[in-house]
Amino acid sequence: MKITTFDFEEHGDDRGILISLEENKNIPFDIHRCYFMYNTQPGVRRGFHAHKTLRQVLVCVRGSCKILLDDGTEKQVVPLDQPNKGLYITANTWREMFDFSEDAVLMVLADQLYDEADYIRNYDAFLAHVSKKSEE
Ligand code: TYD
Repeated sequence: MKITTFDFEEHGDDRGILISLEENKNIPFDIHRCYFMYNTQPGVRRGFHAHKTLRQVLVCVRGSCKILLDDGTEKQVVPLDQPNKGLYITANTWREMFDFSEDAVLMVLADQLYDEADYIRNYDAFLAHVSKKSEE
């Protein structure tokens, strides 16, 4: 499966580093929502869903975590451990987030507002959905 990551440009000087994320520039969509996870408890695994249409970019702005991506055929684990790295996740991709460091802050930019109707939260339903899509 094709994994798309971004290396964001760092504006660094002797004061430190600044990264700017802009819609339709270094983020490949209109940004309609931003949310972030922190204080994730040891051993927690979250996500366990796919989206029918939503596109997202994940950035672990502090600490580290791992993202499992699954297109219904193949699985891959992508470590996120640098604030200048973005992981692009398109529709119909099952994701699980795990191995959060104690200090991890995982930020997500999304191209749509929160809509529970866009979620596929059952793995068998996800497999049925992607197999139907591949027949279309
Ligand atoms: P949940 O879907 O369980 O998170 P994850 O996929 O990371 O396991 O979301 C946790 C709660 O937050 C749930 O009650 C829904 C709510 N929520 C929003 O209100 N807005 C959002 O943008 C998101 C992602 C979740």
